[in-house]
Formats: sequence, C-alpha cells, structure tokens
Amino acid sequence: MSDLGDSTRSTHAGLPDAAQGEPFLPGPTFQAANHWSGDGAPDGYGRTGNPTWARYEAALGELEGGEAVVLSSGMAAVAAVLLPLLGPGDVLVAPSDAYPGVRVIATDHLAKRGVEVRLVPSDDAAIRAALPGATLAWIETPSNPGMACLDIAALATAAHDAGALLAVDGTVATPLRQRALELGADFAMASASKYLTGHADLVLGYVAARDPARAQAMRAWRGLTGAIPGPFEVWLAHRSLPTLAVRLERQEASARALVELLEAHPAAGDVRWPGFGAVLVFTLADAEDADRLLGSLKLVAEATSFGGVHSTAERRARWGTDDIHEGFIRLSVGIEDTADLLADMGDGLDAVNIAR
Ligand SMILES: Cc1ncc(COP(=O)(O)O)c(C=O)c1O
Repeated sequence: MSDLGDSTRSTHAGLPDAAQGEPFLPGPTFQAANHWSGDGAPDGYGRTGNPTWARYEAALGELEGGEAVVLSSGMAAVAAVLLPLLGPGDVLVAPSDAYPGVRVIATDHLAKRGVEVRLVPSDDAAIRAALPGATLAWIETPSNPGMACLDIAALATAAHDAGALLAVDGTVATPLRQRALELGADFAMASASKYLTGHADLVLGYVAARDPARAQAMRAWRGLTGAIPGPFEVWLAHRSLPTLAVRLERQEASARALVELLEAHPAAGDVRWPGFGAVLVFTLADAEDADRLLGSLKLVAEATSFGGVHSTAERRARWGTDDIHEGFIRLSVGIEDTADLLADMGDGLDAVNIAR
C-alpha cells in the first residue's frame, strides 16, 4: 500500500478482505470474556485483546510503517514507552518545551526511581549535545506549542550512535505528513485525540514500533496496567480515518491563508506554522489583546486541543505549564470554509487594533 496516495491509504487501512454480505469495517466487538477453551488465552479476556483494536492497530501500522499498539489516551501511550523501558541508572533525554505530560512523568516519577532526566529545548543541537550516555531520547516534532521542527533522521542516527533509542511524538504532524519510523526512529507515538479521530469527541493514543518485540512489550504493559481503550471508541476512530486526508487538505489550505492574513496584520506577530497541519501559533501584545481576540471570534471556539473539524484557539499561557508569552495564541484550523475563517479572523484582529 505504500506506493498509493494518502487518501487511498487512509481510506483502506486496516480493513478486512472483502467478504460477501460483510461490512467494510466490522462493528465494534464488546467483550469482557469470550468463549475460549484449551490452554493459554491471550485474547480470551477483554483487557488483553480485542478484534476491534487489532483492526485499528493494523490500520495505524500500515500508515506509520511499523507495528502499532492502541491505548486509552496519548498519555497512556507515552507511559507505555517510558515506564517499562527506563529504570535506575538509565538516562532519558526529553523536551523542556513540548507537551508537559512527558516532562511531568520524567521529573515526578522516573527521576524518583533513579532515572537521570535531561530536559532540553526542542532544538537539534541541544538534543544532540544531551545524547552521550542516554538510554532513550524522546522528541516531539513539530513541538507543541512552539512549532519547532526537528531533523528526525539526523537525530535517529545520532541517538543510535550514542547507544540510545529514539521516540518521536508526532501528534502535530499525523502519519500522513511524517513517518518517524521510516526516518529511523524506534517509536512513533501520537495522541489520536487530535487529527486522527478529528471530531473533538474521543481520547485515544497509540505507539508504533519498528521492532515488533517492542510493540509486544507495550501490549503486555497495556494488558497489565489496563490502559485499554473502549471498543466503541476505537471503532469510531477507525471510522474517522478515511476522512483524515481530506480534512487535512482543507485545514492546510485555510491555515496557509490565515498565516498570510496574520503575517500582514499589525496586531499579530511571531506567526509560526510548520507548512503542514492545522495548528499555527502567533502572539498578540499581551493577555488582554489575546482574550479580546478570542472573545470576538465567532467561528473559532475558545477551547484547548487541536486537529478537529471545528476551529479552536486558546491563549496557551492560561495553563501555566509552558514558558510562553502571555499573548501567545495556538489556533487549530477546522474545516469551515476558508473565506469565512478569513473574514472572522480579520474582523477579530481589527477589533483588537481598534481597542488599543
Ligand atoms: C503533542 C502531544 N502529545 C501528547 C498529548 C497527550 O495526549 P492525550 O491528551 O490524548 O492523552 C497531547 C495532548 O494534547 C499532545 O498535544
């Protein structure tokens, strides 16, 4: 399937072979126990296996180019990589400026168990400098919320030369825009609560590994800790995959147009967009201006998260978790008509200007 286009691949990913009278995507399997006799029942209990997960994992594995494990959230996926892998004497390199949950697991939990934690900014040279002696380097690219884009291939080589594994959180990119395993990473992780499910109504996560044994270890961890997703949620996620490519195309067309508008407007500064995806960030003069803009936008809901069909934005400093300007706004562009979004943002920015 790898020579086919993105929309073709995401539409067909993980579907069973055609069978007379059967649906394209079989419905969710609800099971705690099932009929299973004889020795050994790896999939005989609902915490350890489910055919709905297996189909979605096959889809994600096809898109990422590895073996995927679906978990109950992005953070469950982060934990499934970090916690079983790292113990006393190990060294973790992790971002100081990316999704805060990773940092908190590292400093509040792993460090207490004797893992040396090196927090470094999302910058190729800074990460490289922290690699000697590392066990695992965790990177996020593009980084959320700073939108830094890292050189995965070069960092994978540098990590391996240093004897470390490389894990990449590619939530902001999706496997249609970035395939970390093909670039040499050992783990490709994402929160599927964003683009992959795409409707701001599900919380899910996954990790794909290049080495099937590592995927199997994470599956065992998921069964042990019970970090399992509900079958209905996973079925909905699989059902959302075929629209991923068209959603992204519309989101990117609007994002590109909004970047131009923002760059030309005197109220907005430091506009950053990786050139793909729905997330762009910019900075207004202060928190008051940012709140005025968010309050005046009619089509862009004030909300956290990103990648959904509805446009959303938030003043990121309201969380208090990032070292960030008070007027910094993260905007996630939805699938509304581009012209409508441009008009709404133009009016909102003008309202900020007039009030000053
Ligand atoms: C880059 C990134 N990684 C991980 C997560 C955690 O994912 P979840 O909220 O699905 O647990 C998020 C959530 O915002 C994220 O933005």
